[in-house]
Amino acid sequence: MRCKHYFYFGENVQRKMESDTLGCKSWELLREEGDEDFSIEKSVEQYRENCGKAVGYGQSAKFISNLLKKYKYNRVASLGIGKGVLEWHLKKNNPELYLIGTDYTESAIRSLQNVFTECDRLEVFDIKKDNFKKLNTDCVIMYRVSTEFDYKEWCDIFTKMYEDGIKNIIFVPTELLNLKLFVFEKLRHIRNVLLGKKDTFCGYMYSESDFKKMFSGENRRLQYKIGEVIPIYRSAIYYLDHS
Ligand SMILES: C[S@@+](CC[C@H](N)C(=O)[O-])C[C@H]1O[C@@H](n2cnc3c(N)ncnc32)[C@H](O)[C@@H]1O
Repeated sequence: MRCKHYFYFGENVQRKMESDTLGCKSWELLREEGDEDFSIEKSVEQYRENCGKAVGYGQSAKFISNLLKKYKYNRVASLGIGKGVLEWHLKKNNPELYLIGTDYTESAIRSLQNVFTECDRLEVFDIKKDNFKKLNTDCVIMYRVSTEFDYKEWCDIFTKMYEDGIKNIIFVPTELLNLKLFVFEKLRHIRNVLLGKKDTFCGYMYSESDFKKMFSGENRRLQYKIGEVIPIYRSAIYYLDHS
């Protein structure tokens, strides 16, 4: 099961968005002008305070830190880092970890460099286009980037990661789609349309069975197998192994 995901970012931001579809430019705008959930703070103190307050990210980071310790990964790359909240907690839990934070938004990465000073490397990396070999890492983390690509794109991304020699992935979907969520998403979009509120197309939501097919590259040879699953609120942390 899968469905289209729409979101209303508030009047001010919606007016400035150049496209009805969320892309690199819209993410840059959100990092500059969105509300607290999206924009990158200007001061280190404010950034640290807000990261510290993000309880859900903190809980996920504990589970992920435990996995990294268990499998003895000292060097990891997180892709589609956004504001870097999860990654801030990872560094707090394990300051020894060598962390590479990446996103495809150039100006957001620059803003993040001013405040996320604990991160070892922050750089631009496009999941769809760039070569994963250049990350030179033990393990890749993809936290809540699942909506950004369509089904075929995800199958291609997993194939490319496999071919580029990425052995392990910690993959955490934004949410796992079920019937209740499917109905909620549809009704929310219809309500926005009826109210004349222009919302933005933000990609796709998938059920667990869809993710499982992506991991193994549907209709292709087996790619990644699930080593561990840790259920979290509305989602799960999948630890994937090169098969
Ligand atoms: C929903 S946000 C999640 C951000 C962060 N991981 C979090 O959980 O708060 C998705 C992120 O993916 C990034 N992104 C989208 N397409 C990308 C691509 N092709 N390559 C790298 N990053 C991408 C966006 O810029 C955005 O920061």
